Amino acid sequence: MTLTPKRAQDSMIQMTELVLPNDTNTFGNLMGGRLMYWMDIAAALATMKHCSAPVVTASVDNISFETPIKLGNVVHIEAKVSRAFSTSMEVHLRVWGEDPVQQYRYKSNEAFMTFVALDPNGKSRLVPQIIPDTEEEKQLYEGAMRRRQLRLILSGKMKPQDAEELRALFI
Ligand SMILES: CC(C)(COP(=O)(O)OP(=O)(O)OC[C@H]1O[C@@H](n2cnc3c(N)ncnc32)[C@H](O)[C@@H]1OP(=O)(O)O)[C@@H](O)C(=O)NCCC(=O)NCCS
Repeated sequence: MTLTPKRAQDSMIQMTELVLPNDTNTFGNLMGGRLMYWMDIAAALATMKHCSAPVVTASVDNISFETPIKLGNVVHIEAKVSRAFSTSMEVHLRVWGEDPVQQYRYKSNEAFMTFVALDPNGKSRLVPQIIPDTEEEKQLYEGAMRRRQLRLILSGKMKPQDAEELRALFI
């Protein structure tokens, strides 16, 4: 069965949250765990929008928190599917903080997450392929195969000798 491919842009989700006291650590900054929770939801919504099916988080690539987001600031999360494989989809996420009074926006972090679409029996199901349009979407699409191989090797789901694009790093 071949599903009609869909444009990357059409999967985009933009989420906005206000950092409240219950979201912060003792330094008055947004807690990493709360941010990851919001990122997980934004990424799940982007993948569900792309494949029109329920999804589960399969993996989260490393996340580096570059700039803390302060209490009372706004969090902006943008999530977009960068590539779809057979049943899994890689999502690219970008996070910014914003001081709503000074109206100043700053980049907080970037990440990749992978989601798998499930059928009503909880089995993985095929998803539509992605059509990248912009230069950035094309670059993310090209890099997605290498990132997929790396995360599958690290999770023990792929042997380094089967990773065509990354073999040289491991063997
Ligand atoms: C993710 C999950 C559905 C994969 O199931 P599985 O039996 O390993 O399925 P498969 O081996 O058939 O793999 C299905 C897809 O998942 C991908 N996948 C599996 N493990 C992965 C990982 N660690 N990182 C990225 N992709 C992964 C496979 O590459 C495959 O993608 P493809 O069809 O596009 O090639 C299953 O492990 C699961 O349900 N995990 C729990 C999910 C969950 O509850 N998440 C919430 C946090 S607890």
